Amino acid sequence: MAVLFDEKNNIFFLITENSEYQMKIDEYGILLHSYYGAPVGRTDMSYLIRNVDRGFSGNSYECREKREISSDTQPLEYGCFGAGDYRVSALETVLANGSRTADLRYKSHNIRHGRKELTGLPYVRDMGDEADSLEIILEDEVARLEVSLIYNVFAEKDVITRSAKISNISQDEIRLMKVASACIDLQHKDMDFIHFHGRHAMERRPERARVAHGIYKVGSKRGMSSHHENPFVILCGHDANERSGECYGFMLMYSGNHAEEIETDQTGSIRVVMGIGSEGFEWRLLSGESFETPEAIMAFTDKGLNELSFLYHRIIRENVCPARFKDMKRPVLINNWEGTYFDFDEESIRSIADTAHEAGCEMLVLDDGWFGVRNDDNTGLGDWFVNKDKLPGGLSAITEHVNSLDMRFGLWFEPEMISEDSKLYREHPDWTLSDPDRKPVMARNQLVLDMSRKDVVDYLYESISGILDSADISYIKWDFNRSLANVYSNATSSDEQGEIAHRFVLGTYELLSRLSTAYPDVMIEGCSGGGGRFDAGMLFYCPQIWCSDNTDAINRLKIQKGTSYGYPVCTMGSHVSASPNHQTGRETPLLTRAIVAMHGSFGYELDPRKLTAKEREEIKEQIGTFNKYYELIQKGRYFRLTDESDEDYFVAWETVAEDGSEALLSLVVTDVRANPEIPCVRLNGLDGDGRYVADGVLSSALEIPADKDEDADSFEGERVYSGYALMNGGYAFDPLYGVYPAVQVHFKRI
Ligand code: DGJ
Repeated sequence: MAVLFDEKNNIFFLITENSEYQMKIDEYGILLHSYYGAPVGRTDMSYLIRNVDRGFSGNSYECREKREISSDTQPLEYGCFGAGDYRVSALETVLANGSRTADLRYKSHNIRHGRKELTGLPYVRDMGDEADSLEIILEDEVARLEVSLIYNVFAEKDVITRSAKISNISQDEIRLMKVASACIDLQHKDMDFIHFHGRHAMERRPERARVAHGIYKVGSKRGMSSHHENPFVILCGHDANERSGECYGFMLMYSGNHAEEIETDQTGSIRVVMGIGSEGFEWRLLSGESFETPEAIMAFTDKGLNELSFLYHRIIRENVCPARFKDMKRPVLINNWEGTYFDFDEESIRSIADTAHEAGCEMLVLDDGWFGVRNDDNTGLGDWFVNKDKLPGGLSAITEHVNSLDMRFGLWFEPEMISEDSKLYREHPDWTLSDPDRKPVMARNQLVLDMSRKDVVDYLYESISGILDSADISYIKWDFNRSLANVYSNATSSDEQGEIAHRFVLGTYELLSRLSTAYPDVMIEGCSGGGGRFDAGMLFYCPQIWCSDNTDAINRLKIQKGTSYGYPVCTMGSHVSASPNHQTGRETPLLTRAIVAMHGSFGYELDPRKLTAKEREEIKEQIGTFNKYYELIQKGRYFRLTDESDEDYFVAWETVAEDGSEALLSLVVTDVRANPEIPCVRLNGLDGDGRYVADGVLSSALEIPADKDEDADSFEGERVYSGYALMNGGYAFDPLYGVYPAVQVHFKRI
């Protein structure tokens, strides 16, 4: 059992292979957070809590003569607003009499083997005897409010999840103004904070700063997890790097508004609060009702950032993404978006399929523009019926053709959106999120459907399933192309409007869940103008997500690297597109683009008919390489090998088989140089005593004859390296010249 309770001393222990988490109920029933970090052998760590009388830090009434005991300075497991804890709160409530105080005391707990699912929300799945759980029920006896803190411990995976359930056991209405999923007070810590900010087409850029006094808050108010701040943050030691150091990860499994707040208090303690964003949020909890928060996924390691990423990669691949796609070979796809945009018809799609098939592609994805009247992005969203002007034979004519090539077929939808110029809007203008007295905020000239409404979700379910039933479709690309504004439901009373942003997310999850249940073999790829909803909530339904609308290979190095801190390679939709690139105008070699895109769920996004015969041959070889290394790339351990400080010259990364039997090293030069420094990288994760040879090298570097040293050792072939040599000494490349040259080296243990 990974959850233990020491009844004598009132201590809870959550034990994983390489971490330990402790809470203690004090004599007043306050639940203290006493430790999270490397294992301490179940020593009662509350000795680290030193109570000191600090001016202006008040005391509960029963502690009025023990001035050193203050909820303002003690490390708390779930800090609440109003009763003298002035740090960032996890819970803010309004009672029927207007009181805004919440004061929670221990009531009971239960420990069980296995875990309970959340209702209507994604969660970390127990794939069979993996989880033990703890529920601690706290109560505010005056408000008659119960708060259950729920912990699931995945001991072997070094992961603990947290969520909270708030129940109104009073006779009156209680309003929830803020309800966090997790709150944790890390005492005596001086740490850095890493968050993943960005913008459309430039998502998940890591930014690291020293945690200072005051509050550092990131999050999203866009109704989506957003391009701008991912619901994933890391706290780490100042000395932590990719290979060593203490790191804590906090990831919210949620696709809507979120907030991550990090505060250093007067005592130097760091509080982290993570959950649904509270701005605009207000939930009416009637007598007898409960509210469940999304789940936060926490992990700790003292072995550096690559190890922290590995913990998230493993839990997401094995316990978050739908299990049925874990071992499924994902097809290499051709997507027509950047190839044709809206300008296609049945004939051109058929010929794209033919050409892509000859080059080895395994699935054709028909992107935006196949439905309603949609020849540009101003019209048609919501009208999920085939545009017979463009596709006279309907979808079945295309799917039959594609299937005859032994390819699969995928289709684009943007379910939660509606165009003003659409049949759906003309029939149901009230189905949009819109403020009745205002003109709506437009974005991409479209509006957002009110997913809090059952009739809207039912309509979408019926229309999408109608399309899925009409042809052989094995994949959906589920897009979402604007942030929410005017979050107002025309089907909800005025005092429940603060619930709509969350109910919107619940409606989306319900639709995803109904479709996934009815069509279990249809794989859904998430998308939101690229990676605007790249989060563990969406990954619960969609095993992969289009990583970014930016397909420029050099920009993608940063985007995919930033994404890799929290999410595994197999979840990152990544395609080779045309050169010059459509977003940046940059030219890069086809092989460089492929080496970058291969470290994702791989595909092509261009018009293959515009390629030369030689390029099509090259693509065939690339797909062959990807399929050859498929298991290694998708399931191996991923390591970032370079830091920002090296990356003005080159970026390198590596994937290693779990058993150390093989590894794939990739390097892209981002700033080619005359008379260059030798690019040399230290590998990671190999079998130290193992003996490796490089048995496959791909390179888009130009050979500069003048530089070639005929007497030098032959590059590869007979040379044997120990794992230790490659990890401690490194692997040195010959000078790399040309336009963004890239090299991929496969190592095999002999
Ligand atoms: C945004 C997506 O990220 C693109 O890949 C493409 O599907 C367009 N939307 C279509 O409108």
